[in-house]
Parts: sequence; C-alpha cells; structure tokens
Amino acid sequence: RIVVLDFGSQYAQLIARRVRDQNVYCQILRHDITAERLAELAPKGIILSGGPSSVYAEGAPKCDPDLFKLGIPVLGICYGMQLTCEALGGKVDNTPSREYGPAKCKVARTDGRPDELFANLPDELNVWMSHGDQVSSISDTFDTLASTPTCPYAAIRHRTLPVFGIQFHPEVTHTPLGGMLLENFVVGVCKCEPTWKLGDFADAVIESVRKQVGDRRVICGLSGGVDSSVVAALLYKAIGPQLSCILVDNGLLRKNEQKLVIDEFTNHFKADLRVVEAEDRFLASLAGVTEPQEKRRRIGSDFIDCFKAEAINIKDAHFLAQGTLYPDVIESGADPDGPAATIKLHHNVGGLPAELGFELIEPLRDLFKDEVRRLGLELGLPESLVWRHPFPGPGLAVRCLGEVTRDKLVVLREADAIVIEEIENAGLYRETSQSFVVLLPVQSVGVMGDARTYENAVAIRSVDTNDFMTADWSRLPYDLLARMSSRIINEVKGVNRVCYDISSKPPATIEWE
Ligand code: XMP
Repeated sequence: RIVVLDFGSQYAQLIARRVRDQNVYCQILRHDITAERLAELAPKGIILSGGPSSVYAEGAPKCDPDLFKLGIPVLGICYGMQLTCEALGGKVDNTPSREYGPAKCKVARTDGRPDELFANLPDELNVWMSHGDQVSSISDTFDTLASTPTCPYAAIRHRTLPVFGIQFHPEVTHTPLGGMLLENFVVGVCKCEPTWKLGDFADAVIESVRKQVGDRRVICGLSGGVDSSVVAALLYKAIGPQLSCILVDNGLLRKNEQKLVIDEFTNHFKADLRVVEAEDRFLASLAGVTEPQEKRRRIGSDFIDCFKAEAINIKDAHFLAQGTLYPDVIESGADPDGPAATIKLHHNVGGLPAELGFELIEPLRDLFKDEVRRLGLELGLPESLVWRHPFPGPGLAVRCLGEVTRDKLVVLREADAIVIEEIENAGLYRETSQSFVVLLPVQSVGVMGDARTYENAVAIRSVDTNDFMTADWSRLPYDLLARMSSRIINEVKGVNRVCYDISSKPPATIEWE
C-alpha cells in the first residue's frame, strides 16, 4: 500500500482516490505520524499532501524528518514538496509568489530521456498550480525534473535518496495527465503491484467477518439507503442465516418506502428481517416540537430505544454491523493514525452508541462512497438501490418545517413522490444528487375555479454535489419545473403554491432544518 500524510485534508482525500484508481490500496494518515510507526506500517511509498499553510508559519504542520531516511520512496506535492526541501537542504521562498491556475510544464531530459516520474509523458504538460510559497533554491542535493516559466523547480528529485517533489497538483482533474504521473510514482518508483480490486477487498472482508463472527449472530439496521444495504449484502454473503436485519419504520419515511425496502430485501436475501412499526411512538414524541435539533434528538433517542427493544429478542446477537465509510472515519478522527482534522457535524441516527453492548463490525470503513456503490453493484444489488439519493436519518421530520403531524406528512409525501417521479421521467435522477420537497409552515392565498383558497406552500429542492459538503442548486429545465408545479397543485390536496429553492451550500444547507 501507499500512505498519504495529510497536511490539509481536501487534497489528501483526492490523492488517495487517484492512487486507488491505479488499483493500489491507499490510506490517509496524520501528518505528524512518527518515522518509527511508518516503518512498522511498512508502506511501499509515502506521499506528502498539499496544504494551505506556509512552511515558515508558526504552528505549520510538519512531518517527522526521519521519514526521509527510511529508504521508502517519498513524493512531496506542493506544500509536501516545500517540506521535503526544507528538510533536505533546499530553500523555500516565503515572500508569497502566489500562483493559481493552469501552467505549461516543460519536462527536462537527461541523455534524451525524462526521469522515471515522467516516463511515457509528453515533453510539455498542462498542470494546475495552486500555491503561495514556492521552492527558490534546491542546493546540489536535488536535480530539476521539470519547470514552468514562473516556477523553475516544478518537479525535483533527490540525488541519492528516492525522494521527489512536485509543485503542481497531479491529483486534480485540471492536470489531465496527473493520473499517469501518480502511476509512474506508485507502480514505477514504488513497485506496487496494481492488483487491489474491490472484488478482492470484498472477499477479504467476507473472510475476516466469518472468522470474527464464528457461530454467533450479527444485527444490522436497514434504512433503505445504499450504505446499510451494501453492509447487509456483504454480511449475508459472509454468514448467511446468522444475519438479522432490523428496519425501524418511524413514520417519517417517503411514500411506499417500507414496502420498497422489504421487497428489495426479500428479492436479494433469505435472511431474517424484522420490521418495527413505530409511527405512533415517533409522532407522539414529536408532538408540539418545532425546534429542529430537538426533533433530531427525540428521533435519535426513540430510534435507539426501538432498535434495542427489538435486538433483545434476537438470541445470541453479539455484533452490530454499521455502514461507516472512510470519510466518516477520517473526519471523526476515529482512526488513531488518521488525521484528526474536521469533525463531522451530522450524527447519523443510524449510528448507534457503543453502550448498546454489541461488538461493532464496520466492513465499509476503508471505502469511499462511490466505491461502496461499485461494490454494491458487484454484490448484485440493483442500480435503482445503489444510485438512490441519500435520505437523512430524521427523515421527513426535517422537511416538515415546524411541528410534524400525520396530516402534514401525507401532503409532504405525495408532493415529494411527484417530484421524484418527474425527475426520473426526465432522465435526471442520476444527474442530480438529491431532490425532494419541503413543506413550508406558511399558507398563502390562491384561486381555484372561482373559489379563493388559503393553503400550504411547498418548496422543491434539488442539488448537485460530489461530497454533500458544498452543493449547487440543480439547473432543472423550466418545463420540468412547470410540470412538477402543476401536478403538485392539481394532485396534492392542500397545496396551492410551489417554489423552487435556488440557494447554494454554503451559505444555505441542503436540508431546510
Ligand atoms: P445539510 O442539510 O447539512 O445536509 O447540507 C448534508 C447531507 O446530510 C444529510 N443530512 C442528514 N443525514 N442525519 C443524517 O443521517 C441528519 O440529521 C442529517 N441532516 C442532513 C442531508 O440529507 C444531505 O444529504
């Protein structure tokens, strides 16, 4: 495997993705991991990521300089290159010479050949620069491998150690041949075999789950979302009848959702499925509550109680399986070697606390979301499930602004179903990342036939995003919006006005509450 030391996580995750695209396993670690610990982990290569700091700034994140002595190939990218130079005798110019945007990079040749880092690449590359400082002198410990008109040391190599640095960003799509450069490092320099496959990954996980579980039982919460479905599919392959799934119907699901989840489940698994009908309980505890965080708290605690009550009935249940993904592990700092950077704000209601007394199994904790989707397809789950838009744990409660009531949920569910159906009919379901309806706590005047109406307003929300941390509103065609609006007003009793939400995130969030 390859490890990436994280100096500013936005870049580190992208680099890890690109390395995995070469079929080589890649893990992100804390930037201050010791050389000793790295030696124990024995990766085949180390990549130092970019980052927003200046190497001379107070408190700038540094790496253990001894890692350069391990004999493991190192590639420093941008800030990572500046650290490398600082550690091994180069000089970084800290009078900011900011450069942001595309550049043409000329590859140096020795005896008519480029360095192995640039093998099979053209003499001139389009690259993406994004830096404040840059390396101003490399002493005689490094050779120059490539340069741009404004950046004499765009790529360098240490004369005696397997240590490289590049000032530009090979991991972004604006460096079109960046993937080949990373491949040259990972496969050419580090000698990694490009053999890591999702299928192999699944086999290894299945094997280790079998060993861990023995003849005991595993419980898995099902939500109808892709993560919990893939977890269930993996576990079912591993331990078949020793798996019990629990679906808590909190009455806050979308139209026909319970039936859909049950149908999909029974089509694919012969495992035990228990459905907890808990609509009354959830609606009772939401009665009179209007504050969004309070809604979340009540739903979360009811969910745990319902789950616990059902789990107690399952004999020999020892493990609880959860769909924790790699970004959750990184962001929550749960991995002792992982960067502790930002803390995820969303507490997924599916995330059950450890005090429940089960041992946790998290088979997806090494994967990114799109890898989970690919794995789902490999495990035979249908496209319709694998590409489903995400749905928040607190469900329709955070889309029914103000107090949640049974009547309001009926209106919301119907309007929401129309929007999804129209998006699907327009062939835009995969293109949009999340589309739904919000029921607003306002009434407005309208006219239907000859009569005045005074009814609810709803908002359609549809966003495009890669990571759900930032998002833009979908530019849906006007005709489509017109169809949605007219269908909602005609078919959903109690709605006489439809708005389209044109706010991006930030500053708005995707959900309204
Ligand atoms: P926001 O509204 O913060 O949402 O832009 C980002 C993504 O997270 C989902 N979301 C939640 N998921 N529990 C969840 O499991 C929650 O409380 C929650 N709140 C928002 C939201 O649907 C979007 O995909």
